[in-house]
Amino acid sequence: MTGVADGRVVIVTGAGRGLGRAHALAFAAEGARVVVNDLGVGLDGTPGVGSPAGRVVAEIRAAGGEAVAHGGDIATSAGAASLVAAALDTYGRLDTLVNNAGFLRDRMLVNLDEDEWDAVMRVHLKGHFLPLKHAAAHWRAEVKAGRAPCARVVNTSSGAGLLGSVGQANYSAAKAGIVALTLVAAAELGRYGVQVNAIAPAARTRMTERTFAGTMAAPAAGFDAMAPENVSPLVVWLGSTVSAGVTGRVFEAEGGRISVMEGWRRGPTADKGARWTPAEAGETALKLLAEAETPGAVYGAGAG
Ligand SMILES: NC(=O)c1ccc[n+]([C@@H]2O[C@H](COP(=O)([O-])OP(=O)(O)OC[C@H]3O[C@@H](n4cnc5c(N)ncnc54)[C@H](O)[C@@H]3O)[C@@H](O)[C@H]2O)c1
Repeated sequence: MTGVADGRVVIVTGAGRGLGRAHALAFAAEGARVVVNDLGVGLDGTPGVGSPAGRVVAEIRAAGGEAVAHGGDIATSAGAASLVAAALDTYGRLDTLVNNAGFLRDRMLVNLDEDEWDAVMRVHLKGHFLPLKHAAAHWRAEVKAGRAPCARVVNTSSGAGLLGSVGQANYSAAKAGIVALTLVAAAELGRYGVQVNAIAPAARTRMTERTFAGTMAAPAAGFDAMAPENVSPLVVWLGSTVSAGVTGRVFEAEGGRISVMEGWRRGPTADKGARWTPAEAGETALKLLAEAETPGAVYGAGAG
């Protein structure tokens, strides 16, 4: 049996549960050898008990696949470096990095403490940057050694980062930052044979099952649209050689729906060729706004 990810070595961060677990199992089912990373923290990032990464490795092995656990913190240089080293030491290569780990500390902006801001920015934004940097350094070294990597990175943004989400200023800012990081990484790393894309998923995990209980619930029968496993096929495809030519893109993936997200682009424009007065600038801005498309609603923004 041949799979779309046959022979590839894939790292998935935060793969002990939720979406990351589904991605790890899906890659293994398609023939990849998987490094299952998870620090095993609570939903708010507080230290947890047990080894969710070890449990997922056991599941993959029970299904006849190959996997190894890594329990480090991806938001530290030491953790990110040891994660890439785990792939190289265990399997001798690294082909795909799926950045997925993270946690929430939701609060309205006026109540959001500095440490809640820092913790969420750190785990998502720095937790994407550091594994990406260490993996990219490996792939650049491969190119310098005369080999030609066919490498893939899949980052995890969120609708919160694309449209904003009330009560999630820290998370939305981090997830928007991940989109910008994806665009820059795709532009910089193409020369090393690395494609970098991002997804904005939606699925039933501990992150969503209570806040969005109504929309996330599994139906009694029929297609379970919010199962995390529905997001993984696109991630596996993006993480495999078959996605050649696709880089610097953001996809929304939810249930049976895949969308290409079309991001910021210059809309209605006026150019005076000289400095505006504030009154002129305001008048022009209002005229341009009247011509512009209405932005999508911020998640959770009510009428009042
Ligand atoms: N569930 C959704 O609908 C949804 C929507 C948009 C974006 N996302 C994003 O998808 C990703 C996965 O979320 P999920 O819903 O599966 O949540 P989850 O809580 O089920 O899984 C996240 C995992 O990351 C691990 N983790 C946290 N900090 C870590 C660290 N520093 N190092 C290593 N592992 C760490 C946790 O232990 C946990 O197992 C997150 O980036 C999340 O923001 C999820």
